[in-house]
Amino acid sequence: MLVRISKHSLCQGMYVEAVECPDAEFNKKRFLLREKEDLDAIRLTSAASVLINTTLGCAKPETKPKDSLSEAKEKLVESQIVATALMQGINDVYSVFDQLVAGKEFDLEKTRGVVRTLEEVATRSTSALIQMTRLRKKDTATYLHCLSVSTLMMRIGQLLRLKEQTILELGMAGLLHDIGKLFTPNQILGKSGALTPEERRIIQSHPDVGYDILRKNGIECELILEVCRNHHETLDGKGYPRALKASEISLAVRIGTVCDVYDALTSTRPYKKPWTSKEALDWMYERNEQFDRKIIHRLMEAVVD
Ligand SMILES: [Fe+2]
Repeated sequence: MLVRISKHSLCQGMYVEAVECPDAEFNKKRFLLREKEDLDAIRLTSAASVLINTTLGCAKPETKPKDSLSEAKEKLVESQIVATALMQGINDVYSVFDQLVAGKEFDLEKTRGVVRTLEEVATRSTSALIQMTRLRKKDTATYLHCLSVSTLMMRIGQLLRLKEQTILELGMAGLLHDIGKLFTPNQILGKSGALTPEERRIIQSHPDVGYDILRKNGIECELILEVCRNHHETLDGKGYPRALKASEISLAVRIGTVCDVYDALTSTRPYKKPWTSKEALDWMYERNEQFDRKIIHRLMEAVVD
């Protein structure tokens, strides 16, 4: 019997009738999938689905009982693959944009690669990343802001010589920190005049809304959850939604806050012109009661060539 399945459900032992992608990407047809290399190659194509023959091969992945150590190992490898692909995707997005700005030819092949990478990330990771795609459609400025904050947070993590795993978690946290804005109406997000008290209440609820979305989508990483919920808290205790004290604000959140504000100040919004990098850094540096100066120093290193 012929069955169409997602390329991510494919496993060794299945009989592949056809990989539904252009031939140039994977040209083998009608074969028993034995080699792991073939499996990996199929997953890297742009194909969304694969046609398998369940009469000539197995229909379901074999499920062997796993011990908890090998399960934990697999999870770690999986999260590293996701995060590495994510970093690669973000770097590629930036290089494509930079080339365009520099008047060079649009790199279509690289753009295709980014799309494949992001697809891979979205499939491997939780559905929270699918929520990100919805966010992109809803509000492009917020989507770009999340990509930018993600990259900056990882860079600061590198400059602070944090562990590789922590750096990857910072990247995920940056990408997902504003996910709560999915539920903020566009009229409020893009409003150029002063906000009414009710509009302010709605906008200030996005960290808690985002935190709930992430938890519902199975995100358990404390760092990612904390950055989402607390990224508008400031060291002087005047932030929102909980007005936390400095001692309650973690290093990851401090990194998130600094990157979030820096990117907001330096980008164009419907209600303001972008500040220069120097203007934003000077403004933040003077407010050491709000922002952690150690992080501002690293940010200066990160954004000044
Ligand atoms: Fe935010």
